[in-house]
Amino acid sequence: MILPVIMAGGSGTRLWPLSRSLYPKQFLNIVGQNTMLQETSQRIKNIKATKSLIICNSEHRFLVAEQMREVGQPVDIILEPMGRNTAPAIALAALKATKDGNDPLLLILAADHVIQNVKAFESAVEKATQYANDGQLVTFGIVADKPETGYGYIHRGEDIGDGFKVDKFVEKPDAEKAQQYIDTGEYYWNSGMFMFKASRYLEELNTHFPEILSACEPCIDGAYEDLDFIRIDEALFAKCPSESIDYAVMEKTSDAVVVPMDAGWSDIGSWSAIWDVSEKDENGNRVLGDVLTEDSKNCLVHAEDRLVSILGLEDVVVVDTKDTVLVADKSKVQNVKKLVEKLKAAN
Ligand code: GDD
Ligand code: MG
Repeated sequence: MILPVIMAGGSGTRLWPLSRSLYPKQFLNIVGQNTMLQETSQRIKNIKATKSLIICNSEHRFLVAEQMREVGQPVDIILEPMGRNTAPAIALAALKATKDGNDPLLLILAADHVIQNVKAFESAVEKATQYANDGQLVTFGIVADKPETGYGYIHRGEDIGDGFKVDKFVEKPDAEKAQQYIDTGEYYWNSGMFMFKASRYLEELNTHFPEILSACEPCIDGAYEDLDFIRIDEALFAKCPSESIDYAVMEKTSDAVVVPMDAGWSDIGSWSAIWDVSEKDENGNRVLGDVLTEDSKNCLVHAEDRLVSILGLEDVVVVDTKDTVLVADKSKVQNVKKLVEKLKAAN
């Protein structure tokens, strides 16, 4: 049986000032009708699966519960007292799933991705199932066409029919490396979605980063229910090292498979990625809210509650919220997180 696991504990700082620590991007409706978390949970409707498991920060528990209630979807929710990145989050899910002697296939999903072609996504999941059942760790690969440094890169190895053995997995290479990878035409981006047996993930974690496993085990042993939530002890989880699944397991395992996925995927990790996937006017401007544009091209303007006007601009991002305004060069928006760091340091 497939158990969908939705990771919803990220902070989405590159979408500041819309995405805030109290309200990260997965809880906003940035492109679709629903919030990104709701879209994620709806996307798996046709996949034969058990009730989904969401893992998020305890700070966001009511947001998550309310958003799932709105779409009428019962879910289990594990609350993390603090963020420890994705390797521990997935360990908690795998430990919880195997607690009663079961060993489901975990379909690990990020709560903040856009997927335009759900059929293609479903078909990739179906292809992945055979490999995951065989004990492989499956990632879903996106054809890499530009040297993005925010992604994991997968070098495809032996062709195994519906996918490839992973020859090499490199998480977030520098720009020069990324360009070299693109030039070979043999690399996929890691979509950040995975499929494997719960037990296989735990085995690989035990081999490559045992400290995470040993820190998470007592957390799940002592987990308790509180209203609709599964809570874990703060002091116990605080001892867990913080690391992503990409560095902790995927770069190291020799049992990974990549299933290519051409599904209009985007992780909308930045304002320019939102511009890429959004509908634009005849001048290539994406405007939201009360916005006036004149003699401007390829801009993104987001106005929350007053009129915002732009004149003579090209490739500029303007985001106006109640308490702050961001004006940025569209090619530099990966560095919005640097502004957020400055803000945090100042407060
Ligand atoms: N529960 C929980 N706890 N979820 C978390 C945590 C945490 O501590 N940290 C991050 N997440 C969630 C985020 O909300 C997101 O849905 C997902 O896990 C991935 O985390 P990101 O922080 O967005 O990772 P990334 O974008 O830098 O990199 C990953 O995704 C890329 C594709 O978007 C990697 O897997 C890359 O290899 C991949 O290319
Ligand atoms: Mg991301």
